[in-house]
Order: sequence, then structure tokens, then C-alpha cells
Amino acid sequence: MLSQLLHLQGIESVVIENRSRQYVEERVRAGVLEQGTVDLMNEMGVGERMKREGLVHYGIELRFHGRGHRIDFKELTGKGITIYSQHEVVKDLTNARLAAGGQILFEVEEVSVGDLDDIHPKILYQKDGRAYELTCDFIAGCDGFHGICRPSVPAGILTEYERVYPFGWLGILAEAPPSSSELIYTYHDRGFALLSMRTERISRLYLQCKPDEDIGRWSDDEIWNELHTRLASDGWTLTEGPVLQKGVTGMRSFVVEPMQYGRLFLAGDSAHIVPPTGAKGLNLAIADVRVLARALAGFYANKRQDLLNQYSQTCLRRVWKVQRFSWWMTSMLHRFPDENPFDRHRQLAELDYVTSSRAASQSLAENYVGLPMEW
Ligand code: PHB
Repeated sequence: MLSQLLHLQGIESVVIENRSRQYVEERVRAGVLEQGTVDLMNEMGVGERMKREGLVHYGIELRFHGRGHRIDFKELTGKGITIYSQHEVVKDLTNARLAAGGQILFEVEEVSVGDLDDIHPKILYQKDGRAYELTCDFIAGCDGFHGICRPSVPAGILTEYERVYPFGWLGILAEAPPSSSELIYTYHDRGFALLSMRTERISRLYLQCKPDEDIGRWSDDEIWNELHTRLASDGWTLTEGPVLQKGVTGMRSFVVEPMQYGRLFLAGDSAHIVPPTGAKGLNLAIADVRVLARALAGFYANKRQDLLNQYSQTCLRRVWKVQRFSWWMTSMLHRFPDENPFDRHRQLAELDYVTSSRAASQSLAENYVGLPMEW
């Protein structure tokens, strides 16, 4: 996304990716695009297939005590969300970059970055057994939480803020038509469950589990049984189908400050992680690179330094609000091992409040469809 945004401003870039093209185009990741992300894809001219294949939703359901309550995004915010897989976004952007003559190096190895506080930082890497050195004006660290960029910043510069949750999500992708036209977030005595989807034929479902849950101990039947129990609601049935993929994800909130050192700019998961409740990870990464693209455009067109200097501060204002929302959704909907009966009543009161007060529903809706890009 950053590379394409820069290209549209006439700025050259090279994307360095250690996985293969096939891997990044097939790996199942997130699936919910905020309205702002959709608008940006369309403005960039890469929204054609998303417009055709994406599912536009104008609400979600919160389910507790076995009853569903709809949060009507359209009525509360005038906006919606689009269900379109992250790997489909990756395909569309990769095609657009390559069609425009962009450089994406796949299956690159032994990557390191250096001279970060110089005006020409460097990227060292190997490809097909040969060593290369790329001299740049700037490096964007878009290499995820486990990437090499953040750890390349000298000690003492970055401050980390973190919360690790005492549970994970067991997720399946199933060849089954979604049992609901909209996402269902469920609070249940046995733990959180989520019904989501990818297409009209493919469902995506999640169960709260132990953080170190061994997926091998869950048969497909056991997963479906647990989903039936947690999602149960009068007059509603969950449609089963063959399980195509399954896995366990840990849950954490993480922010690093500042998101910049010298000429290295961190964006997306390399700088922050949100728990998946609220579907914000991809959207937050896109908001970062939009700020970065604008700052770099100002630098090249008008020699402006100020936008680059403000990059971290600009991003972090939004990052912390999205952190708050993702933490809040997570806290409201999961069972906590150390909770007491007071906590349970408080969570249920919160769900009752959110689904019965217009002000509270509107706050959820405003955050879910996405806060303005720079806010
Ligand atoms: C998903 O479809 O993978 C998904 C949807 C909503 C979430 C998290 C994940 O909050």
C-alpha cells in the first residue's frame, strides 16, 4: 500500500519481502475493511475487484444471554464496513505495483538495516545466494511484530507498552455459507465466540481458548459442538461445513514510542499490535502508511521536514484510540481467569448498556467503521 501511494506521488520505492509471492497471496489473515480503507483503495484505483467481490455490511450483532442485539452502523454513523480478505488486498496491490513497473523482491533472505541516522540508510539482503546493499533515502519498517526493523533501533530510544491477555482465539475457516448476513460477537459463560465470513460460501469462526491451546487436541466435531453451544440462540442455526484451516492466535496489545528513529519509520504491526476483537490491525497499518506517504510527498515536493518529524505523533494519536477500542471490546466480551462475580455482572451490564443506549451504540459504531484517518 505504501509503495503504491508513493508511486502515485512519483516517488520510487523497493519492497523487500522474505516470503514468496504465493505465500503472501494465500495466507489467511484479517477480513474487515473500514470505510476509510475502502475509500483509499478506490481513490488509488485498486478497488475494482473489492467493489465486485467485497461484502458490504451496515451492522454487527452482539449476542449475550442467548439473544442477539444489532448495532446499526448505517443509522448511527452513515457508514459501513467491507468484508474482503487481507490476502485479496495484497493480490490487488501486488498486481497494481507490478503493472506499473514497481519493484517487489520476493524470497529475500538475511535482511538487515543500517546507518539509520545517516541521510542514506542501507538495507543489506541476499537473493538467490547473492548479497546486495540498497542505499536509500528512507526505510519504512513494515515488517510486522517479529520483523527486524524495530529491534534494529539502538537500545534506550524506544519505549514499549504492552498487555498480554490470558486467552487466545481458536479460529477455523470453513466451507459453509455464513449462518448470518452480519458478524456475530458472542459473550457466553464458556467464553467468547465470533461468527465471521470471507465470502458467501466461506465462514470464519473463532472460539476463546487458552493462550497456549494445542490445536491438535481439538477435532473438527469438538470445534463445531463448542461453536453451537456458545453461539446458540432461539430460532437460529449454525451451518457446518468442511474445515479448510484451523489455528490458534495469541492476544496482545502493544505500542512502541516513538515510531521513528533517524530515517527509519515503523508502520503497522512493527510498531503496534491490537487484539483482534474489533478487526483493527490491517486498518491501523493502512492509516500509518497514509500519514507516511503524505510526509514523504511533502519532503520530496517541497523539502518539508515537519511532516516527517510529526509522523510518530500524528500516528500515535490514532493508534492509542484504536488500542483503547480494541482493549475495550476484548475486555467486554471475554471470560478472564481471574475474574470474580462482580466482574461478570459488570461485563453483562456493559453489554446491556451498549445495546440499549444510543450514545453507547454510536460510540461502538463510530470506532468500528473507523475513526477518521488522522485523528
Ligand atoms: C475475521 O473475519 O477474521 C475477523 C472479523 C472480526 C474480528 C476479528 C477477525 O473482530
